[in-house]
Amino acid sequence: MSTPYIGIYGATSFTARECLTYLCSHSEKDKFQLSLAGRTQTKLDKVISDLNEKIETVVLLLTDEQGVKEWVKKCQVVINFAGPYALYNAEALIKACAEHGTHYVDVCGEAYFVAKMIERYHDTAKKTKTCIVPACGFDAVPSDLIVYLARQTLQNSHPSARLTKSTTFFSVRGTVSGGTIATLRSTLSLPPSQRGGSQWSLIPLTPPTSKTKWPTFAATEYVPGTKEKLYGAIFPFAPFDKAIVRRSWYFTLLHDEKDPGFRYEEYVKIGSVWLAWIVSLGVYVFFGLYFFVPLFRKLVDRFLPQPGQGATLEKRKKGWARLINVSHTTTNVKVITKLFAKGDPGYIATCYMCAESALSLVLPPPSGTSLPDIAHQGGVLTPMTALGDVLKERLKRNGVVEVESELVIDSGH
Ligand SMILES: NC(=O)c1ccc[n+]([C@@H]2O[C@H](COP(=O)([O-])OP(=O)(O)OC[C@H]3O[C@@H](n4cnc5c(N)ncnc54)[C@H](OP(=O)(O)O)[C@@H]3O)[C@@H](O)[C@H]2O)c1
Repeated sequence: MSTPYIGIYGATSFTARECLTYLCSHSEKDKFQLSLAGRTQTKLDKVISDLNEKIETVVLLLTDEQGVKEWVKKCQVVINFAGPYALYNAEALIKACAEHGTHYVDVCGEAYFVAKMIERYHDTAKKTKTCIVPACGFDAVPSDLIVYLARQTLQNSHPSARLTKSTTFFSVRGTVSGGTIATLRSTLSLPPSQRGGSQWSLIPLTPPTSKTKWPTFAATEYVPGTKEKLYGAIFPFAPFDKAIVRRSWYFTLLHDEKDPGFRYEEYVKIGSVWLAWIVSLGVYVFFGLYFFVPLFRKLVDRFLPQPGQGATLEKRKKGWARLINVSHTTTNVKVITKLFAKGDPGYIATCYMCAESALSLVLPPPSGTSLPDIAHQGGVLTPMTALGDVLKERLKRNGVVEVESELVIDSGH
C-alpha cells in the first residue's frame, strides 16, 4: 500500500502551525505524507519555510468545488483548521470527503454547524464508509474520552452496570487565539434559537423533560472514598462538549436497551461554593455586556487577538488542563476518572489531539487495539465513537494526555 496522504486545509492558521510542527517531528513520520492547502501561496510558502521541510502545497478556495474534489480524492484523511467553520464553508470539504470516501477531522466547536452536517452528510458518509469526525480538539476530546473511560472502567468489572450521573470539573490554564474569538462572534451573531446550545442538538431524540431548567451556578460533588468536595462554576465551553458526549451516548444506546437515564454536566473547578457563585455570575455579566453593549465590546476587542494571531510559544508551553470526572452508576460503585494534558489546551493539546485523531484513521492501530465497528460503517461521528481505544492509546503513548480511572465503593453521598 502506498504511503497515505494527510491533507491539511487552513494550513496557514495559528492552530495548524502547531499541528504541523507536531506531525513533522512525529515518531511515525515516515508512515505518512502531507499535503498542505490554503488560500494564499505566499502564506503557504512561509509555513513550509518555517518548518524547514519539503511538503507539497496546494492553493485552494472552498468555493472551487472541482478543485476541492480533486484534492480530497488524493488524500486518505483531511484535517480542516479553517474556522469559523460555518463562515468559511467547511461544508465544501465535508461534502467532498463524504462523497469520495476520504476521512475528515476538524476542531470545530460550532454545534449548529455540526448539526447541519449530520443532517446533510451522515447518510452519504455511511454509504461510502467514511468517518467525518468534528470536535477532535480540546473541544471535545477530553470530555468524550473521560466519559468513555469511566464507562469502560465500570463495565470491565460490572458488565451489566451503567453510568447514571456523570460530572466533569475542569481546571485550565490556557490562552485564546483570534480564530477562536472570530468563531465565538460568528456563533453569537446567530439568533439564540439557531445556536444549537442544547446537549440534545446533535441527536434525533428529544430530552426526557420539557421543564425549563436554570443553569447551575454552583455545583457540588463528593470525591467518592475521600472527604474532598468539588465545587464547580459555569464552564462556557460546556454546551458543545455536552452535545458531543450526548451523541456518543446515543451511539452506545443503539446497541444497549438498558440506559437508566444518563446525565452529563461540566463545570470549572472552583475552591468554594461562594466563589463558584461569583465566577458564574461574572461569566454571565461579562458575556452579556460583550454581546449586548457595543461600547464594552469595542473596548474588550482592543485587547483580543485578531484572526491568525495567538499567544507566544513560551506562554502556550506553560498551559495545562486537569480534569476530574465523578460518575455515579446503577450499582454500588462510583467511578473517578482523571485526565491531565500538558501545554495550552486550545493551541497545543488541541493540535496534538487532532493530529492523533487523523493518524488513528490511516495508520495501523497500536497493538491490542482496533477501531470500533462503527468506524467501519462510517457517518458523522464523535471522536470516541469513531476512534475509541485507538485514539486513547495513541494519546497516552505519545504523551498528549495522562489518564487514570478507578472504581470506588459508594459511600452513600
Ligand atoms: N476545538 C478546539 O479546542 C479549538 C482550539 C483551537 C482552535 N479552534 C478553532 O479552530 C479554528 C481556527 O482557529 P485559529 O485561531 O487557528 O484561526 P486563524 O489563525 O484565524 O486561521 C484561520 C484559517 O482560515 C483560513 N481562512 C480565512 N478565510 C477563509 C475563507 N474564506 N475560506 C477558506 N479559508 C479561510 C485562513 O487562511 P489565510 O491564512 O489565508 O487567511 C487561516 O488558514 C477556529 O474555528 C477555532 O475556534 C478550536
